[in-house]
Amino acid sequence: MSKLRVLSGIQPSGKLTLGNYIGAMKNFVALQHEHDCFFMVVDLHAVTVPQEPAALREQSEAVAALFVAAGLDPAHAAIFMQSHVSAHAELGWLMTTLSYMGELERMTQFKDKSEGKEAIGAGLFVYPSLMAADILLYNTNLVPVGDDQKQHLELTRDLAGRFNYRFGETFVIPEPYIPKVGARIMSLDDGTKKMSKSSPNAGSYIALLDTPDEIRKKIARAKTDTGRDIVFDAQNKPEISNLMSIYAQCSGQSLEQIQAAYEGQGYGAFKKDLAEVVVGALAPLQAKYNEIRSSGAIGEILQAGAERASAVAEQTLAKVKEAMGFLPPVRRRKG
Ligand code: TYM
Repeated sequence: MSKLRVLSGIQPSGKLTLGNYIGAMKNFVALQHEHDCFFMVVDLHAVTVPQEPAALREQSEAVAALFVAAGLDPAHAAIFMQSHVSAHAELGWLMTTLSYMGELERMTQFKDKSEGKEAIGAGLFVYPSLMAADILLYNTNLVPVGDDQKQHLELTRDLAGRFNYRFGETFVIPEPYIPKVGARIMSLDDGTKKMSKSSPNAGSYIALLDTPDEIRKKIARAKTDTGRDIVFDAQNKPEISNLMSIYAQCSGQSLEQIQAAYEGQGYGAFKKDLAEVVVGALAPLQAKYNEIRSSGAIGEILQAGAERASAVAEQTLAKVKEAMGFLPPVRRRKG
């Protein structure tokens, strides 16, 4: 396969979870050696709901450090902050002008996040237009994401097609890249809800930086379906199926291998082993995270990443503005 352009982003809102890791970051790491990769911390998206400035700063650095701790190599992949590349905000506005109210209203993430709120920020509403800009700026072919971002990807494809139709062939139409197992890791206290870093109940998710004891406790308390068999059946046994997906993604074993290994054993034995599998999978990431945070290297990594990203993004933005009919600025000749 020839080299493809890959881009994705993670919001610095709350602690990253095992869902973020399995649904997205693991694939970031897997794709970085074969493809031309850009991974960013989407801080402009994080302010679509009220944020506390000090927390945003801390979480932004923490997510960038987790990218590296999870195995992203800044020599291969550009790692950067969305707000460091101003083309995102600018193309975000242009994509907003191309978006319809009706299609934005249909986004399930918007419906979930705005439900029951009296004041809904306009930024939350146009969030997917900014996400489309993120992707389209880089002529992206593949976008590694979890299942919950599929709808946003579809809208991105629609907006790219709409732009190309109105203003001429400009954007590459991107494809989602979603894992076969673990595309939607579910909450530990409710197998019908997505595991989420913004949940008020810390027992419902495993944070990537949870201690081994916290992980053991959370898995021991995780809700399980009635019965005792370790079989994968997402429809009828969502909770044990979710735990099996986590086991598979953290151990490298297939669901069939896990099912065979635990035949005749109950949930108790399975959960005990699962806890050790998760603790073992996260231990190297946690060690590397602490190393990177104390080294102070993140600032330089982000600066180099933003320079690489800007070079590509600025070119696309110039093409877009020309296609849309903006008068180009006059460049003064030197000397
Ligand atoms: P965010 O920050 O909510 O989540 C980051 C990534 O983690 C995946 N994910 C999950 N995967 C499986 N199971 C789960 N429980 C789970 N929870 C989260 C998400 O699907 C996502 O891939 N809108 C995006 C951020 C974004 C972006 C982009 C992504 C902004 N611009 C451009 C790709 C390309 C978001 O809110 O992700």
